Amino acid sequence: MCVANIEITLHNLLTSLLKFLPPETAHNLTIRGLKLGLAKFVRRDQHPPNSGVVLKNSKLNLPNRIGLAAGFDKNAEVFNAMLRLGFGFIECGTVTPEPQSGNPLPRIFRLSEDQGVINRLGFNNHGLDKFVRNLALSTERIGPVGANIGANKASVEAGDASKDYVTGIKAVWPYADYITLNISSPNTPGLRNLQFVEELKSLLEQVGTVGSSLCEREKFRPLFLKIAPDMDDESIEQIARVSLDAPYLHGLVVSNTTVSRPGSLSSRYSEESGGLSGKPLTALSTEILKAVASEVGDRLDLIGVGGIFDAEDLQTKLDAGAQAVQLYTGLTFRGFDLIDELVKSEC
Ligand code: FNR
Repeated sequence: MCVANIEITLHNLLTSLLKFLPPETAHNLTIRGLKLGLAKFVRRDQHPPNSGVVLKNSKLNLPNRIGLAAGFDKNAEVFNAMLRLGFGFIECGTVTPEPQSGNPLPRIFRLSEDQGVINRLGFNNHGLDKFVRNLALSTERIGPVGANIGANKASVEAGDASKDYVTGIKAVWPYADYITLNISSPNTPGLRNLQFVEELKSLLEQVGTVGSSLCEREKFRPLFLKIAPDMDDESIEQIARVSLDAPYLHGLVVSNTTVSRPGSLSSRYSEESGGLSGKPLTALSTEILKAVASEVGDRLDLIGVGGIFDAEDLQTKLDAGAQAVQLYTGLTFRGFDLIDELVKSEC
């Protein structure tokens, strides 16, 4: 048997075995495996010619449009391995200023029949110091890496989340190729209130002031805002308007997980609380993306996220107005082969 066959067989075997483990155990083992060099066994042809793109507003230069969504590499430990597997960019995080253990276990549920996942992790992460150290230590970064930043639970409870975003921006600025403000996780009570007009205006003014001054003193770093899919037309129109008026913002990531539960769900875990991702999110997140695109046109870059499982889903996001996409849950069901399939479909 040739080496390529051994690699593919081992990869398929591991992907199948992981499905029998509790989701968080499977995830932790995958991260450990990637840290130990697992990516070598699933190595792929990378970045076929003509797959690169430069996003207009953020000026992000991506080897391909397919990114890894936030939440997979929360502590910036395996971004090079994931780039090696073929992703065009990686969004690490969400990281908060202080380490957090998150919600009690179990907190990730695989909805196998629905090809979805519900998570209520609650920003479990090792904190900014470790995150930044990991980014700084990697001398030979092989592609664009973004930092998705959030607020500690205690700061949100104290009504002072903005200061955590300011702290986050300052800390990751020298090391991240772009920065995403995550104000849309459903698992930190009160966080999504930052999407309300006055709160959002105030947050974007504060981070905008910091961003503009860092940009003058250091180098340019584009800023993105990640929004929820649980919004009516009026909220979408308001978020788009405030985003377009923001002093320093280059794009939107659409979208995070949903708190809605489509009636079609049939898995035993479908009533668990938390954010739903994967197939049951595909249509909703694309609908929101389309609505956002019609408001902002090409004045902000749009990264489409939610339920991408194949090349058709990818094309639907691009048709809806995305210039690049990200995925997470599709990997859980399709394995790393999905990355290659999507990248090749783009050429
Ligand atoms: C996520 N997601 C997420 N998003 C974010 O901005 N910060 C985070 O820390 C996390 N954590 C996280 C954990 C788990 C287990 C999942 C499944 C998802 C949301 C993710 O980035 C993405 O927006 C949604 O999952 C929708 O895309 P997919 O998964 O349907 O491709």
